[in-house]
Amino acid sequence: MPRILGSAGVYGKATRGREPPPRSAGPVDGTRLSHLAAPPVVGPRDAARVRGNRRRGLANGAAGPAAVGSTYTPRRVRVLVTGSNGFIGAAMLRYAADTRGADVVGVGRALRPEPATGSLPYASADLADPEATSSALKALRPDVVIHAAARSDLDACEAAPDLAWRDNLEATRVVAACAAEVGARLVVLSTDCVFDGEAERLYTEDDAPRPTSIYAASKLASEHAALALCPRTAVARTATVFGTSHGGRDNAVTGLLRRLRASQRATMATDQVRTPVLLDNLVEMLWALAVDDTAGGIYHTVGATVLSRYELAVRVAERFGYDPSLIQPVLSAQLQQSVFRPLRTPLATAKLRARFKDLSVLEVDAALDRFADSLSAPAVFGEGAAHG
Ligand SMILES: NC(=O)c1ccc[n+]([C@@H]2O[C@H](COP(=O)([O-])OP(=O)(O)OC[C@H]3O[C@@H](n4cnc5c(N)ncnc54)[C@H](OP(=O)(O)O)[C@@H]3O)[C@@H](O)[C@H]2O)c1
Repeated sequence: MPRILGSAGVYGKATRGREPPPRSAGPVDGTRLSHLAAPPVVGPRDAARVRGNRRRGLANGAAGPAAVGSTYTPRRVRVLVTGSNGFIGAAMLRYAADTRGADVVGVGRALRPEPATGSLPYASADLADPEATSSALKALRPDVVIHAAARSDLDACEAAPDLAWRDNLEATRVVAACAAEVGARLVVLSTDCVFDGEAERLYTEDDAPRPTSIYAASKLASEHAALALCPRTAVARTATVFGTSHGGRDNAVTGLLRRLRASQRATMATDQVRTPVLLDNLVEMLWALAVDDTAGGIYHTVGATVLSRYELAVRVAERFGYDPSLIQPVLSAQLQQSVFRPLRTPLATAKLRARFKDLSVLEVDAALDRFADSLSAPAVFGEGAAHG
């Protein structure tokens, strides 16, 4: 059985004093989840947010057809985020609860939740364990599962392939089968690394993947497994995510800022080309996929600007007022990375933008501006190893 923390049982603070509503309170109709409830409106900003969401057809702002002229009481969407102690999972959990008013629960391997999400309900489970995962999903009965758990470190995957296959493929198989069993929608995080990086253009969702590492191969296999096992699945491929580190580790931008702040030089590859994405913008994209049950298959969820790691680093230095000459351009071959990184993996977001017309896919300068605005937050800088 999974350990479930939260002062009021399964749903903790979010539903203190009441049971989770029965599924029949807001039937999941197999199309959009927009019939689910708006959160309580407690002030003008909330009212504006709910109106905005209603325009966008999102769950917490939209009254479904059954709510009109009936005694139907819409309920909050229930969202389970796996990997909620990690970089993206923690941010996703906070966004779903704080911005979208969802009933949330995080699931992670650690016994206790990461401090930044500590006030939100949490269950401890090893997702590769079918019994523990099935118990968690049956107890929590989510409408949506956002699967952000993974062994995400490329070097660690190469060093311990068995663990990579276990955490990336086996855990996804289990999560997808359990999500299908409870009738939940599933959004699975994946990576630009499924491509070999040899194309001279943006990769689309229709391009054939060709993984070049254990990490990438296990993530590609996890995409296939999720799509095969859970009919209501969207795969969200992302890349070079940067932003406030709830999960404690540095990412490409916070690690760099830490060096620049200490006037240390940083060497950055000019031939590793990506479409970096701001964490806050990514969780908006994931939310859009989570609440639109008609969006199936694979989506690329990255930023709108194509640039090399070196170019990104120079933009960061300029934006934050550091000396760009501290950034040294190098070729990947000079970096002596033990595991090969694909060179050019910029991802096209045309499919995402066509589907979600109101969704912002930020250019890197706008993303850095938004990130700079958040710099007063205490948890911007993580510690330890940087994410790719
Ligand atoms: N961050 C990026 O730039 C980036 C880029 C491309 C794709 N992605 C994808 O985005 C997703 C999230 O990445 P992230 O950066 O947030 O990774 P992360 O910070 O490493 O978080 C992953 C979390 O999943 C947990 N986990 C792994 N296996 C588990 C299991 N069997 N049971 C329960 N929990 C488990 C990990 O717990 P432990 O610490 O105990 O292992 C960790 O807390 C991954 O699918 C990754 O491939 C991320």
